[in-house]
Amino acid sequence: MGLTGMARAGRAETPAAAWPLGKMGACASVTLEGERLTVRTPLVRTACRLTFVGDAHYATDDARGELYRQYSKRMSGGPRDMAGLRKDLERVKRSGGQAAFFLGDMLNFPSEAGVERLAAVIRQAPLPTHYVAGNHDWHYEGLPGAEVDLRAEWIKKRLLPLYGGRDPMGYAVRVGDVKVVLVDDSTYRMLPEQVAFLRRELAEGVPTVLGVHVPLYVPWRRADIFFGVGHPDWDAAHDPYWEIERRERWPVDGHDATTYAFWREAFAAPNLLGVVAGHIHAQSLDCFHGRFQFVLPKAQPREVWITTA
Ligand SMILES: [Fe+2]
Repeated sequence: MGLTGMARAGRAETPAAAWPLGKMGACASVTLEGERLTVRTPLVRTACRLTFVGDAHYATDDARGELYRQYSKRMSGGPRDMAGLRKDLERVKRSGGQAAFFLGDMLNFPSEAGVERLAAVIRQAPLPTHYVAGNHDWHYEGLPGAEVDLRAEWIKKRLLPLYGGRDPMGYAVRVGDVKVVLVDDSTYRMLPEQVAFLRRELAEGVPTVLGVHVPLYVPWRRADIFFGVGHPDWDAAHDPYWEIERRERWPVDGHDATTYAFWREAFAAPNLLGVVAGHIHAQSLDCFHGRFQFVLPKAQPREVWITTA
């Protein structure tokens, strides 16, 4: 067992020692050209065109947000008008896109005005459009409480209109031969019910793309703590922004066994084609063991075209 796999005192054992996981993924090839990622796999018969957008960081607000100004102030500098996002979706539809997915941090804070306008964009979109939260969507900086509780509270208070009645912690969407599973990983920490949900969805055997906000850890990106779900160094000592973001600090003991179990469920499934994520604000692509992780640039749509090998 290597150093990264050893359980340190008080810590859950990291999954990295088992990397790469036993079963190969099903991507025959992964190609990035311009704004399109092409994934070829023998698991699909009909091609499918998915569009992903993350980190638009709208700071849309109005007089109703006055009460929360002290909590929204630092993040109030973003764009407010969502006309550009509507145009992006129209362009995607015209070019043959079948579904769009917003992977979190579309809002800088959960203002009523921001949620109303984003919900209208989703509702009026020219193609099926789905949303999952990022760490900023539900966060008014400086409100006391554990992140997992604040997320639950503000999703219930504000964000619910964005989900079209689906479960904010995780839901699946079929697009042709492919399933897109959206899971909220915006606290970096996974809940036991999310592990069970992912396991159930993957067990159906349908070729699946996992859409999340925070990228999953891959061992050669250990220097980047924000590839944080399952990252063995994700802990209080490596948390650079807790004071700036006025939030609960990451735990001293790092991830628990549940989050590592989620990581393992994802990367051990033979029908998990890959992961699309946001959060980093810089595009990157990792291909490994028949799978991919594609991280989106800030606010720019990217197409994932899944076609037969
Ligand atoms: Fe983020």
